[in-house]
Amino acid sequence: MSITDNVSLMRLLTKIHEDKGLDFTQYKESTLLRRINSRLHKYELSSFDDYIKVLEESPDEYNELINALTINVTEFFRNPESFEAIKETIIPRVILSKHKKQHKIIRAWSCGCSSGDEPYSLAILFSERLGNAKGRFLLTIIGSDIDKNALKEAEAMTYSRERVKAIDNKLLQKYFEKNESDNFKLKNSVRSLVRLRRHDVIKDIPFMRCDVILCRNLLIYFNKELQEEILLKFYQCLNPGGSLILGMVESLIGPSINIFEHVNNRLRIYRRPEQDFGCGENDIISQKEIDKIVNEMLDN
Ligand SMILES: C[S@@+](CC[C@H](N)C(=O)[O-])C[C@H]1O[C@@H](n2cnc3c(N)ncnc32)[C@H](O)[C@@H]1O
Repeated sequence: MSITDNVSLMRLLTKIHEDKGLDFTQYKESTLLRRINSRLHKYELSSFDDYIKVLEESPDEYNELINALTINVTEFFRNPESFEAIKETIIPRVILSKHKKQHKIIRAWSCGCSSGDEPYSLAILFSERLGNAKGRFLLTIIGSDIDKNALKEAEAMTYSRERVKAIDNKLLQKYFEKNESDNFKLKNSVRSLVRLRRHDVIKDIPFMRCDVILCRNLLIYFNKELQEEILLKFYQCLNPGGSLILGMVESLIGPSINIFEHVNNRLRIYRRPEQDFGCGENDIISQKEIDKIVNEMLDN
């Protein structure tokens, strides 16, 4: 049964769209049903129409439902191997490419960034790679999400000890300040690189001219047609030579399979092709070489 056949589910989704501006009609039906049914279960209800009455009376339940549908699970350096590849190959490639083209603007986009762990992880790695020369680049990392509560958490940039456990101790010391309540607050040097935006990747104008796009663990919730559409959108948003990183359980689908270069299928790293770039697929560029490039840029 497709969502459109299920009249009362469609009524519920239309209501959410009208009340909250969130359109879930193109999300996978199985995920929607699982999530909504768990809320119905709590009230021992068996019909969506009865549940709509609960929503009308309880703003708290409405929030719970939106939380259940947006699924905000995230963590710093989630899937460490992907971040290792970002640090060792993707960021150095961006720097080399900027050097060759004499461009100073670097733009990355973490789409579906939840509470900020992903764009902040990326900002930390860019900071590590660029060192003192960071200020010489116009580096912006956009963190976008449809869920304003998740973005509020990202704005607060304060995380419990549990939430920062995946962060290497050296990076934790360098980029966070511990407060009296044993929470860790991200330093402004990293925060200032990240612009948080409420943005619906399905309907809002996308962020163009990106060098890196991370969209991880979001497409999996969309139906196949929508995934295809968004992947083509990402292609358009990338600068030639720019990289797309998906979640470990996601992959290219439809026409995007043939237009992206498959850099690392296992780690879901793809690239908008760029001819004549002169940098091999898997070249690892050492920190020493990056320092040299950055210094050359500073001298010019
Ligand atoms: C599971 S989290 C993934 C967070 C992070 N990318 C990661 O992999 O750790 C999915 C996020 O996508 C957001 N999201 C869902 N639908 C969206 C949409 N249409 N546009 C933008 N973000 C959306 C959710 O609010 C949620 O924060």
